[in-house]
Amino acid sequence: MLNIVVLVSGGGTNLQAIIDGIDNGFIKNTRIVGVISNNYGVHALERADKAGIDSFVVSPKDYPDREAFNEGLLEKVNSLAPDLIVLAGFLVVIPEKMIEAYPNKIINIHPSLIPSFCGTGYYGLKVHEAALKRGVKISGATVHYVDKGTDTGPIIMQKAVEVKEGDTPKELQQRIMEEAEWKILPAAINKIANSQ
Ligand code: GAR
Repeated sequence: MLNIVVLVSGGGTNLQAIIDGIDNGFIKNTRIVGVISNNYGVHALERADKAGIDSFVVSPKDYPDREAFNEGLLEKVNSLAPDLIVLAGFLVVIPEKMIEAYPNKIINIHPSLIPSFCGTGYYGLKVHEAALKRGVKISGATVHYVDKGTDTGPIIMQKAVEVKEGDTPKELQQRIMEEAEWKILPAAINKIANSQ
């Protein structure tokens, strides 16, 4: 059984895709042992509650500085003893200490085809704004392992999605979520859980 902790910041649609994937048997041998948000009051926390999953908030607002927040986050993760940490729309830079503590045990979903539109400053809607500005006809999503760089770790899965004429950033974001993110994140977790 792969025990996973899911880290979130907002809406939690990717968290929902994982919850649903476990419930409907698409993701096998996997259990969510906790959800951690860096923000209070986000919909992802309600999704966890509704599914009966323990959820926690570790907010920078509750710590005197970044270092203390990073310590608090690592302590909370450690207390849940995960086999795998899943960043599902977690818009916080992962502390180096956590990356060292969990080598090849942290995965992230990014809403573009890495190496396009990734790295520092590319998160959430900004990714889609940049893709539309550049005029690409294909975008998509990537699941990758997290290393010390930003979006530089080994790629696990990718899926391409068509950009349509006249797309707004929100329309493109929604299509990429539906056609790519909500499929490849559950698929990547299932692959990791069942590859030993
Ligand atoms: C998703 O599109 C995810 O790929 C993106 O944030 C959104 C979160 O949505 N992540 C990043 O940009 C990471 N760099 P969700 O909270 O509904 O899952």
